Amino acid sequence: MERTRVPFTFQLDKTLSLLSNPGLLLASTKRSGASNVMTIGWGTVGIIWGRPCFVVLVRPSRYTYEFIEDSKVFTVNVPSEALREWVGFCGSRSGRTVDKFAAYNISISRGQLVEAVTIDACPIVYECRVIHYNDVIPAHLDPAVEATSYGGKDYHRLYYGEILGTFAVPGA
Ligand SMILES: Cc1cc2nc3c(=O)[nH]c(=O)nc-3n(C[C@H](O)[C@H](O)[C@H](O)COP(=O)(O)O)c2cc1C
Repeated sequence: MERTRVPFTFQLDKTLSLLSNPGLLLASTKRSGASNVMTIGWGTVGIIWGRPCFVVLVRPSRYTYEFIEDSKVFTVNVPSEALREWVGFCGSRSGRTVDKFAAYNISISRGQLVEAVTIDACPIVYECRVIHYNDVIPAHLDPAVEATSYGGKDYHRLYYGEILGTFAVPGA
């Protein structure tokens, strides 16, 4: 189904609710053209430096990290209910060992505004270009967050993706 451009605030409550369950799909493409996808459960949408931004948190251990470091673009894809099982797969398997698109016969297309793929079966997608990043600073973390989320290693890198465009299918 063809997606058309919508404001970044379109169905934002739905996006945020699916972020917490089952997760959203963070797709990335290297300058070489290789693509990968992983599930994200943490992130935020808002306005920073006067620009709409999707901030995603990626641990350095993720294969996806290499992709975003390389191209500095990504897309966030909001899954349909039919993709729930695949979202779980994308959150438990690494693209280092399996082609997650091929494993479920998922079709993808190049973004309209960025050189990163989008997932055809997703009703809403955000196309983003990294305009800033920073790493979680262990010394600044609340000890309870450190204990539940880190245990001394693999601190997330936060990528601030300027939302260059949000696209949705009719009735999304
Ligand atoms: C529901 C859910 C949410 C997740 N959220 C994140 C996240 O926000 N950031 C992160 O770095 N990993 C997150 N993960 C873990 C990655 O999706 C997982 O490690 C994935 O296999 C990484 O794939 P990759 O190595 O191909 O990049 C999440 C996993 C699940 C199941």
